[in-house]
Amino acid sequence: MALNLQELREQALKELSSLSDSERLEAWRVKYLGRKGALPLLLRGLGSLSLEERKTTGAEANKLKDALLEALEKRLGEIRSHALSVLGTEAFDITLPGRPIALGRLHPITQVIREVGAIFSSLGFQVVEGPEVEWDYYNFEALNIPPEHPARDMFSTFWIDSAGEQGKKMLLRTHTSPMQIRVMEKTEPPVRVVVPGTVFRYEATDATHESMFHQVEGLAVDRSITMADLKGTLFEFIRLLFGAERKARFRCTYFPFVEPGVDMAIDCFICKGKGCRVCSYSGWLEVLGAGMVHPEVLDRVGYDSRVYTGFAFGMGVERLAMLRWGIEDIRLFFQNDIRFLRQF
Ligand code: DAH
Repeated sequence: MALNLQELREQALKELSSLSDSERLEAWRVKYLGRKGALPLLLRGLGSLSLEERKTTGAEANKLKDALLEALEKRLGEIRSHALSVLGTEAFDITLPGRPIALGRLHPITQVIREVGAIFSSLGFQVVEGPEVEWDYYNFEALNIPPEHPARDMFSTFWIDSAGEQGKKMLLRTHTSPMQIRVMEKTEPPVRVVVPGTVFRYEATDATHESMFHQVEGLAVDRSITMADLKGTLFEFIRLLFGAERKARFRCTYFPFVEPGVDMAIDCFICKGKGCRVCSYSGWLEVLGAGMVHPEVLDRVGYDSRVYTGFAFGMGVERLAMLRWGIEDIRLFFQNDIRFLRQF
């Protein structure tokens, strides 16, 4: 029996010294000292010994129990202090700032669209949107551009092979102007809307042309709206978007759905109107087309052109963004190059 105790002690202590986490230590305690552990099991065998032997072995067994408990405490202490010293040398600095989460941002074109929308909202316009796939009727005919009209040459069109009803041709809208018609068909005057949206032209891509780009259309119809309202509204818009120091001008031009039609330009802020490469040495940068809604357009949607007048305008969003930030190539907007996009 004495030998067994000695063996037990050696085995237990040897095992203990190889353990290095508190879970294993607990398992070790259960194995040797637990209710069904090795030592209590041994003690239970004492009954078969003589009284004398029982006394000495019992005392020794108790000593062994104390010794094992003591060794366990000691090992636990060692493990704890080791863990602490590791914390001191290897641990990370919890006071370091966290890694920032990369935040996205709005695309510059989206930013400009929202800004233009906000400006016109402040002037009493509603922001509405329309379909990008459009009928020939809305994109051309209702806007005074019948088939074979030379003005169709202004819009290189993506036609859609549709099994549409006879005479109803489909296309990708070449401008946002068709929404003028859709809004007027659905609403009684007065009307005040701006229409941001994507438009498409079948064109070769270069620094100033893309086959997909964005416009914001505007339309106001009411009794006694005049060209002065158009001018007042658009000059205020330019002032709010480009700043009070910007000069603006109207020049006559032709759009089939307005009469008279105008081109609006601002003075070149690169050369301050003196003439440079950006403004093609004219001193002016064209920003939008506009005019008084053609009476035929009004009559076609059932507005009485003897009672109602209106103005309309349309601007290219990429162009506004290029002017605002001095960007020289429209293609940059659609290449998804983060180095470009994160500048705005
Ligand atoms: N839709 C024309 C274009 O894409 C722009 C335009 C000009 C819109 C005059 C208008 C307008 O509403 O009155 O070139």
